[in-house]
Amino acid sequence: MRIVVTGKTGQVVQALRAAGETAGAELVCIGRPEIDLSQPLTLEAPIRALRPDVIVSVAAYTAVDKAEDEAQLAQVVNGDAPGALARIAAERNIPILHLSTDYVFPGDKAGVYVETDATGPLNVYGRTKLSGEQQVARATANHVILRTSWVYAPYGRNFVTTMLGLADTLDEVRVVADQQGCPTYAPEIANALLVVARRVVDDGSPELRGVFHLTGQGETSWASFAEAIFAGSVARGGKAVTVHPIASADYPAAARRPTNSRMSGEKLSKIYDLRLNPWHLSLDDCLTRLIGLPRG
Ligand SMILES: NC(=O)c1ccc[n+]([C@@H]2O[C@H](COP(=O)([O-])OP(=O)(O)OC[C@H]3O[C@@H](n4cnc5c(N)ncnc54)[C@H](OP(=O)(O)O)[C@@H]3O)[C@@H](O)[C@H]2O)c1
Repeated sequence: MRIVVTGKTGQVVQALRAAGETAGAELVCIGRPEIDLSQPLTLEAPIRALRPDVIVSVAAYTAVDKAEDEAQLAQVVNGDAPGALARIAAERNIPILHLSTDYVFPGDKAGVYVETDATGPLNVYGRTKLSGEQQVARATANHVILRTSWVYAPYGRNFVTTMLGLADTLDEVRVVADQQGCPTYAPEIANALLVVARRVVDDGSPELRGVFHLTGQGETSWASFAEAIFAGSVARGGKAVTVHPIASADYPAAARRPTNSRMSGEKLSKIYDLRLNPWHLSLDDCLTRLIGLPRG
């Protein structure tokens, strides 16, 4: 099975490379300069030349705040390019997996979001990712859209590496406490993508297609997530850092974020028998890879 993945340097792509080696999958990761998602019309020739059995659409315009000023570019990369990739998949009669985001939701639901809940993004990034979902679904029924959230890994720029970086220079940090979500570990996203890819290549059943939520189990706020990161660092001999919980209103950002973007992984668990680890176990693995095993 040859899996063609968009992106070469992102967190999930790096995790996919590592997981693909272990799983023995033939993974071809293609990104800039070979393909540029801001030029959707140029994607067909290089992707077709790779003769994929399945396309995994991972690369995206992920700078949530900057997207507010670059809406046109974000729309092409996150909306139109996945649509073009899905048309290529449809022409080849192969499935496409597409990663999307919790930010398609408005965040005003009391409980966890399920796949059938109404979307209503609050920011440009979320709107463009929703457009990507819609364009993929329009192009081919042979798609799996996987919405994930709060992605982190032992590499790349993410909340965990940012917090640990801040600990080098600060003894206290102010972190938003009124946004709830599900941290999701890129190596586990990668493992799940490989399982889903294998299944949809081998099995054409309609119930394997559609929208699924792919998140770490459990939920937290950014402030509690930061506290867990610093506690894990201290357990490994790192410096103690005090977290001061603040309101989103006290942390001005260009893009509005949903207050609640918790998503249920029940559908993925039921249909694919796939569930990711509780987020604090995955965080522990991430910290061990970054810093080492806890002392004592
Ligand atoms: N990070 C999160 O918290 C989060 C949350 C929910 C959903 N997601 C979704 O999960 C997926 C993976 O996220 P991630 O965190 O792994 O992303 P990431 O680390 O920010 O990497 C983004 C990747 O997209 C590539 N890219 C950006 N613009 C491109 C273009 N015009 N042409 C070709 N490649 C381009 C980048 O390539 P360069 O190295 O060349 O810039 C980079 O490899 C994305 O679809 C994202 O929307 C992420």
